[in-house]
Amino acid sequence: MRVLDDLSAGRRANLRAVRDDVDFMRGNCADLETARRAARGMDVVYHEAAVPSVARSVADPVLSHRANATATLTMLVAARDRGVRRFIYAGSSSVYGDARQLPKREDMEPRPLSPYAVGKLVGEHYLRIFHGLYGLETLTLRYFNVYGPRQNAASPYSGVISLFVTSLLAGKRPVIYGDGQQSRDFTYVEDVVQANVRALTARGLAGQHVNVATGHRVTLRQLLETLGREIGVPARAESRPPRAGDIRHSLADISAAHRLLGYRPKVDFETGLRRTLEWYRGGRKSGARR
Ligand code: UD1
Repeated sequence: MRVLDDLSAGRRANLRAVRDDVDFMRGNCADLETARRAARGMDVVYHEAAVPSVARSVADPVLSHRANATATLTMLVAARDRGVRRFIYAGSSSVYGDARQLPKREDMEPRPLSPYAVGKLVGEHYLRIFHGLYGLETLTLRYFNVYGPRQNAASPYSGVISLFVTSLLAGKRPVIYGDGQQSRDFTYVEDVVQANVRALTARGLAGQHVNVATGHRVTLRQLLETLGREIGVPARAESRPPRAGDIRHSLADISAAHRLLGYRPKVDFETGLRRTLEWYRGGRKSGARR
């Protein structure tokens, strides 16, 4: 197994448990020579690399496009050139944008609201045509707000759960953008892994896109209250104006993932949050948070 990562957000230490089985390459997926070296001899590519922030893409659309759209195209070209059989891609629920209907189904028309969502959607289109043009077995897994241990909380653009947890544990007030009534289908990382493992052997899915989520949604206020209760601190936040490009509600229909991949989420929200909390708490003690 080979891992290509520029470590702009990830940490080499996250691979400690599989260190001996991994050939690690530090580099950027948007660089074709690097991508070709990484894809050499591989049967399957999991393309997870991204700059995964809506807000950051609004601040810097060119950086976002390169990391999300260009890097995906480059990895696809490398995979094609190296005779890779299957290419599985981390898509995003952000592509649904302001589509009103809930839950979001795969056959709904995408209505991206941010450069990030556009970049992720461009990646999906490239996967689809690479299947049609070159026979690559491509599959997009549209992730809905992934969270869990090891999520990097170091940037203001980090995922909301990692930011809320680390603020509350540090005795600080988290920031809520908008009224806090926006909702998300928060998906525990192990369920995302489950979908990816199933995608490895699934048949008849090439060129398609499938939601990966739980089918339940939680508002930011509910998230904050649950965390406050678990940690034993008041659920108070600092209010800021809503972020441009933000989606209001996000909830997935996951029947396609069940039908096509046999996927069923196994970790409910409370359990996932508790495990996440334990990890950040443990990290604080050992100094190994990232
Ligand atoms: C997230 C992912 C994105 C993924 C998408 C769909 C991250 C960083 N981004 O976007 O990669 O494609 O889900 O799965 O994980 N918020 C606050 N306070 C904060 C931070 C955020 O109120 O300190 C709000 C945001 O304005 C937003 C919500 O919390 O309304 C979620 O934000 P965020 O975690 O950044 O995720 P998404 O933008 O939904």
